[in-house]
Amino acid sequence: MAEITKSQSIKSEYWTAAFIGILKFVIFSFYGINLWIATIYIDEQRINPNTGKVYTIGNIFTNIFSILNCTSMAFQLIPNIQAIVKAKIIGKQIFDVIDRQSPQKQLVKHQEQLPNFSTITFKNITFKYSSQQNDMLQNINLLIKGQTSTVIVGASGSGKSTIIQLLERFYSPNLGEILIDDVNINNISLRALRESIGYVQQEPILLQGTIRDNILFGNKDATEEEIQNSLRKANASFVFDLENGVDTYVGTSSLVNLSGGQKQRIAIARAL
Ligand SMILES: Nc1ncnc2c1ncn2[C@@H]1O[C@H](COP(=O)(O)OP(=O)(O)OP(=O)(O)O)[C@@H](O)[C@H]1O
Ligand SMILES: [Mg+2]
Repeated sequence: MAEITKSQSIKSEYWTAAFIGILKFVIFSFYGINLWIATIYIDEQRINPNTGKVYTIGNIFTNIFSILNCTSMAFQLIPNIQAIVKAKIIGKQIFDVIDRQSPQKQLVKHQEQLPNFSTITFKNITFKYSSQQNDMLQNINLLIKGQTSTVIVGASGSGKSTIIQLLERFYSPNLGEILIDDVNINNISLRALRESIGYVQQEPILLQGTIRDNILFGNKDATEEEIQNSLRKANASFVFDLENGVDTYVGTSSLVNLSGGQKQRIAIARAL
């Protein structure tokens, strides 16, 4: 990233330098041509059509001051040109992100809906984060049965969150397959998969907006009653004691300070 920023800053400076160079070239050319023509006109005693008299030194200086005025205005353009060049460079980065095709999208997606399923199976899963040298998961096999609670236990950094992220298809395994009943999750549309599996991450993020807005991100058609029920089920009844209840504003610039656990419970309500 630092390399990209550096090369683009250099590019932006090139453009600005080129603009200043061209501007100065034009201005000094005007001065030069002005003085050159002026000497010829005065020497040959030509008539100024505006006054009907011969050109004087006064006419020449009027001209020079006019150019001076123009150029000082033109120089005021420079900061604006810089802003335009910077906006272009930053805009490109943003559009590159918007236009990026996720590799997940190219995977086949037969199934638009996920029926009730009874097992999740991890089969010989091997996975490596692209930024890391070694495999994070090696030949993992896991059978998760429906209607049961499954807990994955392990040392910090051993790959528990990674397993869940693979299930949500935030990453794809390098080897092996993940099956929901008998269907490979790559054959299920991302939307159907993520609508069926609620995921509360370890460090939940509440988005800018009210608690209600945040819960509605989970299901935009949820009724008032469903919102309240989900909060109760998530053991987040503390929300009702807040001054503005579910309309309390949360997010980065919020005035209400929620603890990590409270944020997590709102995230659970969102998932529910
Ligand atoms: N996006 C990522 N890119 C590269 N490496 C990552 C990424 N996310 C996690 N890792 C690395 O993968 C390893 C496993 O991380 P993971 O989050 O799965 O651990 P965990 O078992 O959930 O740990 P904890 O109990 O602390 O939550 C860690 O060493 C971590 O540094
Ligand atoms: Mg974790």
